[in-house]
Amino acid sequence: MSAASGSLPPAAWHVLGAGAIGGLWSLRLAARGIDVTLIGRDGDAASRTLSLEDGDTRLTHTFPQHSATAGGEVARLLVTTKSHVTRDALTPLLPRLATATPVVLLQNGMGVEDWLCATRPDLCVLCAITTDGVFRRDRDSLVLAGRGDTVIGGARPGNDAHAERIALELGMMAVPDITARRWQKLAINCAINPLTALYRCRNGDLLAKPEALAIMRALCSEVAAVMTAEGLAADGDALFRLAAATAQKTAANRSSMCADVEAGRSTEIRFLNGYVVDRARLHGIAVPENERMLAAVLTMH
Ligand code: PAF
Repeated sequence: MSAASGSLPPAAWHVLGAGAIGGLWSLRLAARGIDVTLIGRDGDAASRTLSLEDGDTRLTHTFPQHSATAGGEVARLLVTTKSHVTRDALTPLLPRLATATPVVLLQNGMGVEDWLCATRPDLCVLCAITTDGVFRRDRDSLVLAGRGDTVIGGARPGNDAHAERIALELGMMAVPDITARRWQKLAINCAINPLTALYRCRNGDLLAKPEALAIMRALCSEVAAVMTAEGLAADGDALFRLAAATAQKTAANRSSMCADVEAGRSTEIRFLNGYVVDRARLHGIAVPENERMLAAVLTMH
């Protein structure tokens, strides 16, 4: 049924962090007729045109853009900033979010949801993870290198009920076990990202380094121990196989952390291995390899 025949138009979305993944989702939503506004920085232009190459097809759309403090109420928010900059980017936007506003965190790492749920327990916080592979040819031109799956679930059990509805709006898949899946993704990022940053190598190069493989295995076994303490089923060998398979599948990529270090930017390490270290401390578990990765990457900030 169309809006003209009486149904409501789809809810409008705001996107915070229109980099590769944020840009991809902005374009996907716009292509489905959803009204999308980008949250830019103070002084950014009032509009921004993004384009996406997906095989032979090219998608282009011009979006309105506001700073976090300009504009009215935000009805739905997709957050795709890197974890370590999210708090600063999202804080000025919070007054524009009414009670029960759905906020979807689609980013590497864990811990932002804890801060957001504690700061604004009235929001409907959802977390998503994706296996889409997208890179930027330049700031506004994206290339979809590999179409993946994107799954979503509630950051807290109370928010799970809303995941189905929001998944439908976004074209994602609602899953009941998002926390376990996010921990698995965390293990993959904990195993690949800091090592590629330290060796300054592509993901696939780790597989040819016996010492890197040994560290990856130890990192995964520590993550599994923390997952078990969190009440989740986990197997260190299986996590290591998942991390190695991901390094193989993305062999030619530079991980996001390697790219950050090479560009002289700070990294998401506190939300990857740093999160594992924090949770391990709470459970009284030793995670020396994750501590070592955290300390080593922090010296590069
Ligand atoms: O952070 C990244 O770069 C990615 O999550 C991954 C899976 C390591 C591939 O590069």
